[in-house]
Amino acid sequence: MANSRPLRPAPDDAFPTATSRLQAETEAVLLDHIPTQASSETTQAPAKLHKSAHIQFLARNFIQGFPAKYTSQDASQPWLMFWTLQSFSVLQVGLDPGNKQRAIDTILTWQHPDGGFGGGPGQAAHLLATYASVCALSIAGGPGGKGGWDQIDRKKMYQFFMSLKQPDGSFLVAHHAEVDVRGIYCLLVTATLLDLITPELVEGTASFIASCQTYEGGFSSASQPYYSSVPYTPESLLSSPRPPLGEAHGGYTFCALASWVMLQPFLDLSPRERSQINTKSLLRWLVQMQGSPAEIGGFRGRANKLVDGCYSWWVGGAFGLLEALGVSAAVGPVSPGGGEGVKTSGGEGEGGEDGKDGEDEHEWDDVDDSFFNREALQEYILYAGQHPTGGLRDKPPKNADAYHTMYCLSGLSSAQHHMLPSDERRQQIQDAWKTSPDDDTVSGKIRKEILLTSLSWTEDESAAKIIGGDANRVNATHPVFNLTMTHSEAIVSYFYGQIVPP
Ligand code: FPP
Ligand code: ZN
Repeated sequence: MANSRPLRPAPDDAFPTATSRLQAETEAVLLDHIPTQASSETTQAPAKLHKSAHIQFLARNFIQGFPAKYTSQDASQPWLMFWTLQSFSVLQVGLDPGNKQRAIDTILTWQHPDGGFGGGPGQAAHLLATYASVCALSIAGGPGGKGGWDQIDRKKMYQFFMSLKQPDGSFLVAHHAEVDVRGIYCLLVTATLLDLITPELVEGTASFIASCQTYEGGFSSASQPYYSSVPYTPESLLSSPRPPLGEAHGGYTFCALASWVMLQPFLDLSPRERSQINTKSLLRWLVQMQGSPAEIGGFRGRANKLVDGCYSWWVGGAFGLLEALGVSAAVGPVSPGGGEGVKTSGGEGEGGEDGKDGEDEHEWDDVDDSFFNREALQEYILYAGQHPTGGLRDKPPKNADAYHTMYCLSGLSSAQHHMLPSDERRQQIQDAWKTSPDDDTVSGKIRKEILLTSLSWTEDESAAKIIGGDANRVNATHPVFNLTMTHSEAIVSYFYGQIVPP
């Protein structure tokens, strides 16, 4: 059912620019697709997820090969594989054994003899390609035989990671390449899944991440370059934080925040890493990324830019990560117009926020107890994000592509399912702990903590919200890794040698 809030177009200062014209044109196109209070009865089509059209779109690419327009993505072959496999998983489609093996064999051709994975056979190893390859293997692969997991050269991968490490705790994305938080996220997910995290590997990384938070509240790609004349160390970063490089962006913000979440076990046990992020300004910025007018529901990636379906995951998915850090939605959703009813706790958000706006609270209280409008986001994806012939997209009238198909579906998943870290689940896993229950070394404790933190997410089923009815339900996905919980549990428990109870 269409939402029924009144239209509130983006404010305009009466001095049109290319940006404001594009915003107005985009709003008009979107309002044409998304039913609102102002839409006529005839445009109120039901919100339906066209699962079989999307499955056909994915299967065409996967079985017949990607069309020629993907030639420019020759160095992104692991991404095309991961986007396709993870889209199938979110849509609850499993691969048959023949196709699984074909995927595994293909992925392994991207492994570099000196560690890590490249963007295609014979290509240089890269952190982004490594994440996509290992995630794709988490989905298609398994232990033993030619399952792919045992063919990952973990020792060389660790050496590859260490060879990219910079004195400030950051990592180059590849040899002779740049530093950015996407690479750090990719490295941390891979190292977490494969049990490769060590204090040495992540020393200083949290401080570097914190230094990328901009005055806007979101995170930029990096902070002042590592080749600066000042010799940076984790300590010097803490005493004089360096300026972030560039503007806050949803993609980088997700990577930085997810990295921050993955680094928590290390931070808790390593008093040297005392850096903080400002969760309050981060929350405010994330909320401001909601599109306007409120009816169109999608997210933009940065200030004064257009909404785009892929930010359903990069920005929409970031709210759950903030909640995992103890920032809770105490009253209700926060309006992009400014009124808020939210309590923040933990980090610099400590102390809460009472700036409620009575009018907004009244207007939005039909939504639910969430930081953003989960209903409107689902409507954006269902009405504007789906291409009529299958696959999902940035926005109409664009074509569907593999990247937007996965990030729209993952965004839909995180808007439908409310995933939270659960003490009960944590205890269950701890109770089933198999070996060295009292390994009291710092690395033993960190390793255990990493496994528990990774797998203790569960869904608050009472908070599930499926717009358009149960036929639209998709699988829940891990808020940090963007793999299903089943795939996450399988690979993590294998590499940590632990039994994870169902
Ligand atoms: C701007 O593109 C895009 C960026 C500056 C980078 C975005 C980063 C991500 C999406 C994260 C990727 C994460 C991993 C793990 C690889 P644009 O100017 O075309 O888009 P915009 O107008 O929406 O900002
Ligand atoms: Zn996009």
